[in-house]
Amino acid sequence: MTHYKYLLLFASGLIISTSVWANKDNGFALVNPCMTCHGPNGSSVGLAMPSIAGFKSENFIEIMEEYQNDERPSTIMGRIAKGYEMEEFEIMANYFAKQPFLHSPQKVDAKKAKKGQKLHKKYCEKCHERNGTLDQAGTGILAGQWMLYLQFSLTDFMTGNRDMPKNKKKRFQKMLHRYGEESLENLVHFYGSRSGRHANP
Ligand code: HEC
Ligand code: HEC
Repeated sequence: MTHYKYLLLFASGLIISTSVWANKDNGFALVNPCMTCHGPNGSSVGLAMPSIAGFKSENFIEIMEEYQNDERPSTIMGRIAKGYEMEEFEIMANYFAKQPFLHSPQKVDAKKAKKGQKLHKKYCEKCHERNGTLDQAGTGILAGQWMLYLQFSLTDFMTGNRDMPKNKKKRFQKMLHRYGEESLENLVHFYGSRSGRHANP
């Protein structure tokens, strides 16, 4: 009886060809270890772990290469990235690019977020378009990213541990000069205030 059922499924095309399954499994086996830290399908549930869903695949690959070559500061990713080949980065990148970036609600101060929104518009929107929801030329997604992770990233930029494009550096300097150190915190609250589900652009 069961055999018969499977035959029916097969005939009706509900059983997809084995090669497709094999491919899927392959991709999943590769990204599965990433999810222990980066959350189910790349939307992180942990405070300091960045979400990596919805990043454009070419940007994703670039980030992984930077980690691999120690061109981007990291606590862990440098070591992890060295364990993979380019083709594997491509499979991972394609997988995560297709996943929606899910924002978890975070505790934000509404006043700070409001100030942050203005600062964003003035100093950041140029490269982090649509309020930081878009991953453009390797900028990452800021809106809805974990606030603690954003703080780490900003600290890396401020201490020079992580490079910034020249025009970005200038904007930061202007902003800090005019609005002080708290502008950084306000921005973090603004990005953190984003929650809900976001479809990929
Ligand atoms: C043990 C935890 C851990 C695992 C496993 C892990 N990561 Fe990460 N990942 C991090 C941390 C922490 C960061 C922030 C940079 C750092 O400090 O290393 C990060 C950063 C990243 C970023 C950059 C995010 C951004 O916003 O710019 C990407 C992309 C990434 N990881 C991809 C992966 C992939 C792909 C895998 C699986 C092969 C993976 N990670 C496995 C912890 C992890
Ligand atoms: C001139 C373009 C430009 C401007 C302006 C700019 N950024 Fe960026 N930003 C980038 C790029 C490019 C990256 C990716 C850098 C990298 O890979 O190290 C980035 C990365 C980041 C990251 C790290 C994201 C991650 O996943 O780790 C944060 C946080 C950030 N920017 C915040 C800001 C804030 C806040 C402002 C405004 C005060 C701003 N940026 C203005 C181009 C810009």
